[in-house]
Amino acid sequence: MTKEYKRTLITTALPYTNGPVHIGHLAGVYVPADIYARYLRLAGRPVTLIGGSDEHGVPITLKARKEGVTPQDIVDRYHALIKESFEGLGISFDIYSRTTSKIHHETASEFFRHLYDKGEFIEKSSEQLYDPEAGQFLADRYVTGECPHCHHPAAYGDQCEACGTSLNATDLINPRSVITGAVPELRATKHWYLPLDKWEPALREWILEGHKEWKTNVYGQCKSWLDMGLQPRAVSRDLSWGVPVPVEGAEGKVLYVWFDAPIGYISNTKELLPDSWQTWWKDPETRIINFIGKDNIVFHCIVFPAMLMAYGDNFQLPDNVPANEFLNLEGDKISTSRNWAVWLHEYLADFPGKQDVLRYVLTANAPETKDNDFTWRDFQARNNNELVAILGNFVNRVVVLTHKYYGGEVPAPGAFEQVDREAFAEMEALKTSLTENLETFHFREALKDAMAFARLGNKYLQDCEPWKVVKTDPERVKTILYVCAQICASIAVVMEPFMPFMSKRLAAILGGLKLEWPIIAGDSIIAAGTVLGQPELLFEKIDDAAIEAQTKRLEDIKKLNAAAAFKPEEVLPEIKIDDFAKLDLRVGTVLECEAVPKANKLLRFVIDDGTPGHRVIVSGIAQHYKPEDLIGKQVIFIANLAPAKIRGVVSQGMILSALNADGSLVVAGPTAPATPGAQVK
Ligand code: MF3
Ligand code: ZN
Repeated sequence: MTKEYKRTLITTALPYTNGPVHIGHLAGVYVPADIYARYLRLAGRPVTLIGGSDEHGVPITLKARKEGVTPQDIVDRYHALIKESFEGLGISFDIYSRTTSKIHHETASEFFRHLYDKGEFIEKSSEQLYDPEAGQFLADRYVTGECPHCHHPAAYGDQCEACGTSLNATDLINPRSVITGAVPELRATKHWYLPLDKWEPALREWILEGHKEWKTNVYGQCKSWLDMGLQPRAVSRDLSWGVPVPVEGAEGKVLYVWFDAPIGYISNTKELLPDSWQTWWKDPETRIINFIGKDNIVFHCIVFPAMLMAYGDNFQLPDNVPANEFLNLEGDKISTSRNWAVWLHEYLADFPGKQDVLRYVLTANAPETKDNDFTWRDFQARNNNELVAILGNFVNRVVVLTHKYYGGEVPAPGAFEQVDREAFAEMEALKTSLTENLETFHFREALKDAMAFARLGNKYLQDCEPWKVVKTDPERVKTILYVCAQICASIAVVMEPFMPFMSKRLAAILGGLKLEWPIIAGDSIIAAGTVLGQPELLFEKIDDAAIEAQTKRLEDIKKLNAAAAFKPEEVLPEIKIDDFAKLDLRVGTVLECEAVPKANKLLRFVIDDGTPGHRVIVSGIAQHYKPEDLIGKQVIFIANLAPAKIRGVVSQGMILSALNADGSLVVAGPTAPATPGAQVK
């Protein structure tokens, strides 16, 4: 950091209240922002962490329409759920408010009006898509169609999720109304545009020259936007849900959600600090940091800064916008509409008391430089092999030994030896690296450094073996356990931003340790004579059953999604009854069934077809059935198919089966026992 700021205002992207919050949101935005805010607080640096719900926008009205409730019902439901679950995870917002609040409507309205009065907008009538059946304009997600860039068939009116391009509804090929499915017409309507092109030189200067230190993904996206050339952008929409456009002749129009939402950062600061909010936004000594996901980069780095520049009045631009990439879940893109997510409120219910485990895993796997994957197996492994086996185990051994030898009192050390000095030196180096990583938003690396304190502790204990030394040199053991107590205390401090719940418990075990940064690696974070609390396990193993319950849930969702997306094959050209009559279908009973050697798809059946000789059929369904599960079952087969040699076996027919939406397969058979050899007609 080049400049010492007086205070830091941290904002977190305001989540849309059209669904609960999931691990992708957490890993991308809220956990890193919380780590940073907690770190600054520990260091005694003034900070506010601003959050809130983004309650406007088309996805919310679409959801309300689908459920037959009002948009207000939807936002009330999810705002409450999101707020509560953030609290549950220990996200330390100084305020978590919402954009339907009165103060936000007033602030956003005033912001627009100020730009309007200053002549910062272009007023323009243009042809927009209109649904004649629904009698309304089709803004943004109210329309879908083919992406003009990548030709994805279901792009939205504001964005193509397949290629990420941001679109205008009128760009779509073959647009359709989401409300009625109607083909939209074009109708003239008036809107207000912010001429981003006017701010392009200032934005270029500010970002491309002034913020070369931004993350490469952020800087790169900004550069490519700026290099394409900025265009005026509409900041109003023909909708009824939102902040009304505060000028005459704007009935039926509201502010575009991406115009009002970032102003929410300001409204929420105002709500929190009615008297001093201006200091947090307009004093150059304030440092503003916006934590966001990568899909929000252009709005935070180009559009909102242009709005702030247009407003003037000393509004400060963000000093950094540490945007993360995306987190996937078990190899698939997280999706609210496909229910492919781990929802925070469900996690908190399924894993009570394990908030820190999720925070730890999401940070260890944070998608800081590239998309990353969350898997339940990794979650379990990190808990069991790292938190339990390394961190929890070290602390527990130290507390137990201190109780065993010294009645729980941290002993006074004797002279330090080489190994002790080395441990202190290593802690000092870790602290430096950790601080540097936190300052530069490298939270994965920072967590590794914090964890290295526990690894160091285990190694130190292993090297010093106090349980042996106690028999020969009991004085030396005092020094060893003193050093161990210092390491435990450091862990409590350095882990606080990452795992605040654990940290608090550990601090209590360590005799009410005060958590403060920077730690003085070395002698006395925790004083000799401090009485430790009873040992308790900071982390517990997570067993296979808990993990399997989660993976089973995901498998079920996958099946439901596949079933919902299933489209039956086109029916083949019509045939005559005579054509059908040529086909000899029969019932048979499986007498024998076994895998065909060296062919992983094939099963060899011996079928009782009512003839003494029986019949051999080879079928390619080995991936769907265990041979023994089919023995005794009845199947339907084609009896007059010309025999064919498959892998050296002559197959006399074909067994019928159906392929399900989820890719599984079932063999067709009679619904009740039938006579082997009976014809199916
Ligand atoms: N609701 C938006 C999203 O989830 C983020 C809004 S951030 C704000 O993508 F700056 F506009 F508030
Ligand atoms: Zn596309």
